Amino acid sequence: MSTTTKTERVTVGLGDRAYDIHVGAGLAPGALLKPLVRPGGTVPVVTDAHVADLHLAPFLAALADAGIAAKPIVMPAGEGSKSFAGLESLSGQLLDMGLDRNGLVVALGGGVIGDLTGFAAGVLKRGVAFAQVPTTLLAQVDSSVGGKTAINARQGKNLIGLFHQPRIVIADTALLTTLPRRELLAGYAEVVKYGALGDADFFNWLEAHGAAALAGDQDALIGAVAHSCRMKAAIVARDERESGERALLNLGHTFGHALEAATGFSDRLIHGEGVAVGMALAFRLSVELGLCPGQDADRFIRHLKAVGLPAAISDIPGTRPNTDELIGHMGHDKKVSDGKLTFILLKGLGQAFVTREVPLAALKSVLTNG
Ligand code: NAD
Ligand code: GLY
Repeated sequence: MSTTTKTERVTVGLGDRAYDIHVGAGLAPGALLKPLVRPGGTVPVVTDAHVADLHLAPFLAALADAGIAAKPIVMPAGEGSKSFAGLESLSGQLLDMGLDRNGLVVALGGGVIGDLTGFAAGVLKRGVAFAQVPTTLLAQVDSSVGGKTAINARQGKNLIGLFHQPRIVIADTALLTTLPRRELLAGYAEVVKYGALGDADFFNWLEAHGAAALAGDQDALIGAVAHSCRMKAAIVARDERESGERALLNLGHTFGHALEAATGFSDRLIHGEGVAVGMALAFRLSVELGLCPGQDADRFIRHLKAVGLPAAISDIPGTRPNTDELIGHMGHDKKVSDGKLTFILLKGLGQAFVTREVPLAALKSVLTNG
């Protein structure tokens, strides 16, 4: 892989539901959305209060320049909006606007806005089209692509949802310049995930260019986002409903979700940080089981640390989560079937696989010492 200055376009090949992901710095959203907007229609632009302060006015101006009438809907920032209350509020506002089945809803924000808006669009009038304009690195490389949409339930995260593919994804890396460093790093964990799970060359590239991407180098960011999207698009096209290979995208997530739950979904550990620690634990467990060379795990963990991501449970501030409590949280994960936990483990860098055969003793050892 080399760095690039050009705009990249990645197609998610899903037949008559195929769509493009546009990646670049300073994209023209009006021109990209125009073909999807019915003449005379008003487009709802769903965003959150932080993103509205930073990016809504120029975004609406760009739509107006392209002759698109738009109406903003501003939700509270934060995971709390991915709730039944958030869904009721958003869908009520969309219905009050008179949105019909030929309309288009635009999600301008991070994964919270994308997941909530996608879900609302999926159920409103039995399904209306939506567009993703992701504004966090996590959303650009992961949540805006692939059609998973959801809100949270009292029983757990993302438990009420559906697959509803967007019609277009517009990933403008220039929007990431306002993202707090911690959020950028959290999104970077999902970028590294692609290298770890299936592309050792991409991991090599990240070792060389990841720091530049995190420092805001737009060429490096475009390269990282576009390659991540290419990998996710290919996997989604082969396994849209996660009956097999798509599960590899959950590398680090069973551990990560348990750590997020054990830390109360608080500021102690945000999602991408949980995924970073979770991936490090997946490598450690793979080494413990004799599946993966120790040097690959060391190299992976070294890169996480080099960019400033947490790479061990001991890196999480505050009291260390208890091993049995973590295993209890894992039992509530969506990825449990027939009472057995599903793990994504590694045979080496770029070689992830799915298994349900993990001895409890090895798991406990890694959770206690990792
Ligand atoms: P988020 O949407 O809450 O955004 C994080 C914070 O950054 C928020 O405070 C937001 O207001 C702010 N923000 C967004 N863009 C900004 C910008 N350009 N400048 C400054 N601040 C900005 O969280 P996230 O990390 O983007 O997404 C996390 C969510 O995504 C979780 O709910 C998770 O479950 C979901 N997710 C979904 C999928 C999927 O496939 N659907 C995949 C991964 C994660
Ligand atoms: N984020 C995992 C997936 O989209 O399948």
